[in-house]
Amino acid sequence: LLERALRPKALADYIGQHKAKEQLAIFIQAARQRGEALDHTLLFGPPGLGKTTLAHIIARELGVNLRQTSGPVLERAGDLAALLTNLEPHDVLFIDEIHRLSPVVEEILYPALEDYQLDIMIGEGPAARSVKIDLPPFTLVGATTRAGMLTNPLRDRFGIVARLEFYNHADLTTIVTRSAQLLQLNMAAAGAAEVAKRSRGTPRIANRLLRRVRDYAEVKHQGSIDADIADAALRMLDVDHQGLDMMDRKFLEALLHKFGGGPVGLDNIAAAIGESTDTIEDVIEPYLIQQGFLQRTPRGRMAAALCYSHFGLPQPTQP
Ligand code: ADE
Repeated sequence: LLERALRPKALADYIGQHKAKEQLAIFIQAARQRGEALDHTLLFGPPGLGKTTLAHIIARELGVNLRQTSGPVLERAGDLAALLTNLEPHDVLFIDEIHRLSPVVEEILYPALEDYQLDIMIGEGPAARSVKIDLPPFTLVGATTRAGMLTNPLRDRFGIVARLEFYNHADLTTIVTRSAQLLQLNMAAAGAAEVAKRSRGTPRIANRLLRRVRDYAEVKHQGSIDADIADAALRMLDVDHQGLDMMDRKFLEALLHKFGGGPVGLDNIAAAIGESTDTIEDVIEPYLIQQGFLQRTPRGRMAAALCYSHFGLPQPTQP
C-alpha cells in the first residue's frame, strides 16, 4: 500500500483542518449550485499537512479533472499555455510550489486567471505577433509553504485562501488509527497515540513513522504494536519524546551551544549545521516556533523557554 493509498479522497474523510474544511465545503457547494468554476484557491502551510491531498479532494468534490504541475517545472510561457489550453470547463489546475514560478510564466498567468484569456507571443523578431486565446473557466489551486514569498499581484488573484495548521494530537491520532486500519496493523489505541504524539503535527511524518514502527514490530514483536513497542521503535529512529528528530535537535543544539541561545541570523546557523536556509525556514522552524522551542525576532533566531528545559539547561537570566 503506497502513501497515495492512505490519502482521503472525499472532504468528509479528511481529518482535521476544521476551519479550511468548513470554508471549502461551502465555497465548493456554492460554485456547484451556480454551475460556475470555483474561485482560484491558495493553500498554504508547512510541508506534509495535506495541501496536495486537499487539491485532489477539491477537484473530486467539484466533479472535475485535476491537472497537476509545479512552479519550478514550468520553465517557459509555452509550458503553462499547453496546460491551460487542454483544460475542460471548470477543471482544476494544481500548481504546487507556486512561489517558484518564473516571472515570464507568472506574467501570462495573470490574464488567464482574471479573464480566462491567454495572451502569448508567437515567433521572434519582426515576425513575432501576439495572439489571444479564450480559455474555459477554470480553477487554479496553488500550494505554497510560504505565502509571504508570492508576489502581491499573484496573491491578490486568489479569491479563496486557506491556511493549513499543524494537526492537534486528537486529529493526528485519528489519522494514524485510520492508516493503521488501512494497513491492517494490529495496533493498540495507545500505540497510535504514541506515534501521533511524536510526528511533529504532520500527517506525512505520522504515516512514515507508522511504516517504520510496523517494520520494527513485525521483526521483533510478531507485528503487534502497543505504546511501549512504538516508543522503542521511535527511539531507535532517533525521534525523541517530544517528536523532535535529529535535524531539529542539531538545529536547537547549535543555537544553544554555538550561539549562546541567540539571537543569531539564519545564514549563520545554516552554515553551522550545513543545512540550506530554505530547509530551515520551510521544514525545521515552523514546528519549533509553534511548539515554543524557538522565537524569531528582528535581531535573529533565539532559543525560547522550552528549548532550555528540553535540553536540561537552566533558563537564561534576563539581561
Ligand atoms: N492523511 C494525510 N492527511 C490526512 C487527513 N487530513 N485526513 C485523513 N487522512 C490523512
